[in-house]
Amino acid sequence: MENSIKVICYGVGVIGGRIAKAVIEKKGITIVGAVDIAKDKVGKDLGEILGLDRKLGVTITNDPEELFSSVEADIVVHCTSSYLPQVYPQIVQCVKAGLNVISTCEELSFPFNKYPELASRIDKLAVDYGVTVLGTGINPGYLMDTLPIVLTAPCLRVDSIEVTRIINSARRRIPFQKKIGTGLTKEEFMEKIKSKVITGHVGLYESISMIAAALGWKLDRIEELDPEPVIAERDMETSYTKIPKGYVTGLKSVAKGYMKGKEVIVLNFIAYAHAPEEYDEVIIKGEPNIHEKIIGGVHGDIGTVAMVINSIPKVINAEPGLLTMKDILLPSAAVEDMRIYVA
Ligand SMILES: NC(=O)c1ccc[n+]([C@@H]2O[C@H](COP(=O)([O-])OP(=O)(O)OC[C@H]3O[C@@H](n4cnc5c(N)ncnc54)[C@H](OP(=O)(O)O)[C@@H]3O)[C@@H](O)[C@H]2O)c1
Repeated sequence: MENSIKVICYGVGVIGGRIAKAVIEKKGITIVGAVDIAKDKVGKDLGEILGLDRKLGVTITNDPEELFSSVEADIVVHCTSSYLPQVYPQIVQCVKAGLNVISTCEELSFPFNKYPELASRIDKLAVDYGVTVLGTGINPGYLMDTLPIVLTAPCLRVDSIEVTRIINSARRRIPFQKKIGTGLTKEEFMEKIKSKVITGHVGLYESISMIAAALGWKLDRIEELDPEPVIAERDMETSYTKIPKGYVTGLKSVAKGYMKGKEVIVLNFIAYAHAPEEYDEVIIKGEPNIHEKIIGGVHGDIGTVAMVINSIPKVINAEPGLLTMKDILLPSAAVEDMRIYVA
């Protein structure tokens, strides 16, 4: 398509694959390359990996540098890992190839406090190469940071912010249910927490940091509590496993930001099987108080796919550097031909 936005998909696992599928459905945007290291993907056509009944003419490669030197692209959609030290070399490769980047790496969504050195290097490189780098997704990226930040806009004073996300994990994919310890005994769960096999939700630290930065709050500290198991009060079953009464149905991850000794930001991420009510809630105490609740909650995977795709024109239009969701133009859906959103 003429003047289409040209995208390279870097990491075509669950989320990268869903983003690729959604991009294919959209007008004004084309996938021109795909990178992955998984043995069952390298060398195959992207269409095959996505389960389409046609080839897309895009062969998945494990050599990004070679790809970057052989195709022209506007932006890389990067979905490989949650941790910045792991993805740092991948992001640097993209930037040095003169490509804008949107990544679902949770720790990239606001890396300035946890990894000041890496963040400043990415920022400097991005400025030098005239490209923009953004970490985003549904959470971090929207529900527990961008959304509460925007909700403070009509407040004259903000005393505290509490955000709660409750997910019925029985309705989510099996790897997610596994990741939150579904069906384990409490002892097995605690062991997996200790050995960091179960990490809880990644991104609460970054979301608190982003809210504080937007409000100009200098926090004393951010505390991330160990995830706690949610215990079944009755026998139950999910698509993944049977959960006898007294076994683990999921987990609760909590993080808190303190200022002058007081809890000013509290984030509660709760995911367990058969949670009776799913929602995303923001409670702001201040002048005025604000209480917002998304009944039914936002679907995590759809939300992430949309956040990434909708951010593409915003990132292309943005100033060079390492930006966060609080820095880009007001987030919104890009539902029409993607070319109309690019300045
Ligand atoms: N911010 C948010 O709201 C949000 C939402 C959803 C997901 N995420 C994060 O996004 C990331 C991707 O999620 P996912 O569910 O798609 O994970 P996934 O299914 O594990 O997919 C990741 C893919 O990237 C590949 N990969 C790993 N390292 C690579 C490298 N160096 N170069 C090229 N490819 C590489 C993996 O190959 P192997 O399988 O061989 O390792 C895999 O195929 C995760 O860290 C996830 O936590 C964030």
